Amino acid sequence: TKWTRNLRYLPYKNWSDNQITAIKQKISQSHWRLGYHIQPTTGLLNDPNGFSYFNNQWHLFYQSFPYGPVHGLKNWTHLTSDDLVHWQDHGPLVIPGDKQDSHGAYSGSAIPVGDDLFLMYTGNVRDSKWVRHPKQDGAWMDANNQLKKIATPLIGKPKDGFTEHFRDPQVIYHGKQYYCLIGARKADNTGHILVYQADKVTGPWKYKTELKFTNQTMGYMIECPNLVFIGSRPVLIFCPQGIDQSVLSHRNIYPNAYVIGQSFDWNNFEIIQPSSIENLDDGFDAYATQAFKAPDGRVLSVSWIGLPDTTYPTDSEGWANCYSLVKELKIENNKLYQYPVVENDCLGKNKISTQGISAQTKLSWKVSTDTVGIVCIKTELGEKLQIVMDSTNGKILVDRTNSGVSVSKDFGTIRSSDVVSHKDITADLWFDNTVFELYINHGERVLTGRIFPNGRQFYVDSKNVNVCKMRLDKIY
Ligand code: FRU
Repeated sequence: TKWTRNLRYLPYKNWSDNQITAIKQKISQSHWRLGYHIQPTTGLLNDPNGFSYFNNQWHLFYQSFPYGPVHGLKNWTHLTSDDLVHWQDHGPLVIPGDKQDSHGAYSGSAIPVGDDLFLMYTGNVRDSKWVRHPKQDGAWMDANNQLKKIATPLIGKPKDGFTEHFRDPQVIYHGKQYYCLIGARKADNTGHILVYQADKVTGPWKYKTELKFTNQTMGYMIECPNLVFIGSRPVLIFCPQGIDQSVLSHRNIYPNAYVIGQSFDWNNFEIIQPSSIENLDDGFDAYATQAFKAPDGRVLSVSWIGLPDTTYPTDSEGWANCYSLVKELKIENNKLYQYPVVENDCLGKNKISTQGISAQTKLSWKVSTDTVGIVCIKTELGEKLQIVMDSTNGKILVDRTNSGVSVSKDFGTIRSSDVVSHKDITADLWFDNTVFELYINHGERVLTGRIFPNGRQFYVDSKNVNVCKMRLDKIY
């Protein structure tokens, strides 16, 4: 297929069912599909949206273009779960094509209000000259998971002095007021987070101020802002595109960053005593992480494992990208920790002692003080993902140079992470055929990425570490 603009933005009703059937047929031959990670049924998956707890279930939506592995006319596809581990895919729910979202139902958030779930998202609207006019739209989902869109945008245009890049609303309820954070690009090409306020979630929404959390320039655009609170401490997760390497050193095409503060000033919308800007993930492919505070008090997050403006080897199979496991965020010793929620422990089946491992495996190991531990996951073709942990220098390296079909080679094939030197290092690797999530010291650092080996069997080689191997349930 030649993915012209016309084809990518063709109304859904103009596609024949054959397209989906053909993609499903191709996908059924794939050796790169995943066992226990969320992946698109067909086409491209990007940002997690509307992560929430409503009507006694977990809800999550994914940005989806179902007709091919490209960024086209996006919908929100609905997933539900009883345990944050097993997800059911109900198909597209927020379907684009109305006046307020003619060229895509872009990213946003969800919040329970009364008996319904309120969705706030960006309507991507373009005119006949292909000029973008972003709208911030609303929709209600009822307890039967039926959707009713609000036809009139809640926020009809960007604030004066800002450009058409104005999207990804996160709704927050605090002190009987609704607030909404929106990522924006100013006319001077700098990235900002704008705050709007309303008495009722349906508006009227009024511009309040900018979120203040740094004096530095946040690149040319901020996507997907999320403000969450761990106890009284604010954590801001965001994607500052084009941020200078001197402000945030990063290797991927675009970073996913965070800031933690000591406290939050709700009058000025200011993070008090913000940390420096940090990478949320030191790996290859994490972006657009969405977080929210669950009713049980935990702060939960999900990351998109995929990057904008990047092609992946699965494109030839008609699908692209996946999500991380659901992670719990905590602050310990003034550092942000991320670790798969405890519910994932139900995936662990039996310890395995043979050299061969299943495609769905969790490996855990420990490197003693002043030792270099190496773990390699290899295929029968000699392809390998290599992990080096140097506890003398407090360095972790993940190398996918020779792991199979390459991805984003120009951005480097090795990633690294720093921890305190001269200390033991522990690691948990959640491996799932073509995706890995490596958690260092129970979530002090995380390195996430994809590999695309041609081999079908996996083996583990290790040096200077004791590896515990666990076979995981196949759940899809
Ligand atoms: C981030 C992003 C968002 C936008 C969405 C469109 O990956 O560009 O800013 O809302 O994807 O799918």
